[in-house]
Amino acid sequence: MQPAREVRHTPVLLPEVLDSLDIRSGGAYIDCTVGEGGHALAVLDEPAKDTRLLGIDLDRDALETACWRLEGHGGRAVLAEGSFGDLQELATSNGFVPADGVLLDLGVSSLQLETAQRGFSFSRSGRLDMRFGASQQTTAHDLVNGETEQRLAIHIYKYGEERKSRRVARAIVAARPIETTIELAEVVSSAVGRGRRTGVHPATRTFQAIRIAVNEELQNLERGLAQAVEVLRPHEVFDDPVFQRVVRDHHQTPRRCQDFDRLRQAPL
Ligand SMILES: C[S@@+](CC[C@H](N)C(=O)[O-])C[C@H]1O[C@@H](n2cnc3c(N)ncnc32)[C@H](O)[C@@H]1O
Repeated sequence: MQPAREVRHTPVLLPEVLDSLDIRSGGAYIDCTVGEGGHALAVLDEPAKDTRLLGIDLDRDALETACWRLEGHGGRAVLAEGSFGDLQELATSNGFVPADGVLLDLGVSSLQLETAQRGFSFSRSGRLDMRFGASQQTTAHDLVNGETEQRLAIHIYKYGEERKSRRVARAIVAARPIETTIELAEVVSSAVGRGRRTGVHPATRTFQAIRIAVNEELQNLERGLAQAVEVLRPHEVFDDPVFQRVVRDHHQTPRRCQDFDRLRQAPL
């Protein structure tokens, strides 16, 4: 029995996720972003269903917490450190093909945001890092200090939807070297200016953009989505809360329709 660990992340849309996974007795499920295991625990806890779950994540710290939380479920839970960009290989090698449901809960976790030295937060001082997994090569420091001004502007515009992306990129290049999250947040804030008082920090969009670029999030998503279709038992459930919401909204407004196209668009 491992010592108790603090759990930082609260899973989103939990009832909706369980509802759309429609868990069946003896089913095999893959949580591609298991994090600290919030969704995974709920899938395994479904009363008397005897499900199996493969939990994948790049973040070893999160996996250690998931391991501690799921250990009561014995051999029904399998954890794998890796990217859902390699979903098919991970699912096959762990005996989860065909799967009865696949879940992706995209984005950054509270554990990652609240740990200053992971470098995800503009309000906590840490070295610029932003990697989901320690085995990844490129850090936010590499990108912020090494990327051309033009490429930075494209990242910030495309992944952060920052209208002042060119101005932000120019300010970053002029202020190099930038070592910490707080330094970067200050440079971006001065470039963006206060604008309307929306309550959103002026560096929010740029931090999101750099995180997406560092982790090649859209490239991995594209690979993961294609492989999810391959590993699922025919006619089974693919569940990503964001994807579900986008697909639902896709039928409601033209604006969301564009979001859907962008989600599927090949990155740079
Ligand atoms: C919003 S959190 C998931 C939280 C989780 N559902 C829970 O209940 O604790 C997103 C997770 O996705 C992971 N992640 C991001 N990109 C990934 C990738 N390509 N492959 C595997 N995991 C990834 C992050 O490390 C993070 O732990």
